[in-house]
Amino acid sequence: MKTGMQKNRRSVPVRKSVPVPTGKPRWWIPESEATPEAVWHDRRRLLRSMGVYGALGASLPALVACGEDESQAAENNSQNNLGLSSEDPSLALYPAGRNEKYVLDRALTEERIATTYNNFYEFGSSKSIHKRAQRLQLRPWEVAIEGLVEKPQVLAIDDLFRQVAFEERLYRHRCVEAWAMAVPWTGFPFAQLVALAKPLESARYVRMTTLLDREMMPGQKAAWYPWPYVEGLTLEEATNELAFLATGIYGKPMPKQNGAPLRLVVPWKYGFKSIKSIVSFEFTAERPVSFWEEVQGAEYGFWANVNPEVPHPRWSQAQERMLGVEGKRETLLYNGYEPEVASLYAGLYESEGDRLYR
Ligand code: MTE
Repeated sequence: MKTGMQKNRRSVPVRKSVPVPTGKPRWWIPESEATPEAVWHDRRRLLRSMGVYGALGASLPALVACGEDESQAAENNSQNNLGLSSEDPSLALYPAGRNEKYVLDRALTEERIATTYNNFYEFGSSKSIHKRAQRLQLRPWEVAIEGLVEKPQVLAIDDLFRQVAFEERLYRHRCVEAWAMAVPWTGFPFAQLVALAKPLESARYVRMTTLLDREMMPGQKAAWYPWPYVEGLTLEEATNELAFLATGIYGKPMPKQNGAPLRLVVPWKYGFKSIKSIVSFEFTAERPVSFWEEVQGAEYGFWANVNPEVPHPRWSQAQERMLGVEGKRETLLYNGYEPEVASLYAGLYESEGDRLYR
């Protein structure tokens, strides 16, 4: 079966990285073209829990309200509460040297925008959760490496950090809601964790899980979501050179609202794949079912590769808006990372057709 991705094999325009803009942000932003995922999911779940989903399902989009944009989020947030901690025990690891291989075709997003306009449903479904996220306790923090591995282990996060090599990478980040950022992540290649884990030959996927703690993360009291947040990658994806486990951003430890102390970054996929505050890496033979896939698999599937030619069922993905920048840009296939990742999916087109996106 032919897919849009096959038709659209364009090369990626890249040029040298652009310095972080220092001027004032331009707060006026055109209204988002996309329905905010948060509003839509909450209504849909609510309706389902009320037993009226089936009857109203077809007309749901008409119920959706206009969402918060980053100008509103920033107004709601204090400028000096970005979730950065001077007491973070990993502080000495920053800043890490930049890996110059990963260059951007656009300016970096302002730090204040990237750290105050967030999706982290464990703290609520608005974009302005950064203050609420400060209740996340980052130590002690343990990460389990389990499942189909030579020797399952549980590592204290700082012990894990001692066993990997930190670097900084500039990546584009594209949310399924059609907004985008460009950010400097600090962290280490996912391949280093896979090497530590020593998966067995039978392992084909890695399933990642976010901390489950309803007191610390009150959004997890919302019973209509299948907590904890789970995501998955194939082993080939996890060991692709771009797959990154981020521990920091803008040369500092990761703010809580951005997924401290450890989050995934897979820049060729929609942002919901980039699971935050990870406590477990489980190597499996079966494909994991991810959080949003369980909520609404027809709209948020396992592969979730950025593709301008495959619209979300309720909005176009052809364009995106960079947070803090007026106007729209063309969405790039695989978010511009086609040379690095296209080979991962070559065989899948034939067998899975347009399910590649979902
Ligand atoms: N991880 C967890 N645990 N919970 C979430 O709600 N949201 C996802 C992803 N990871 C989410 C998550 C979505 S939809 C996006 S777009 C990115 O995190 C947002 O990352 P950011 O807030 O750092 O921009």
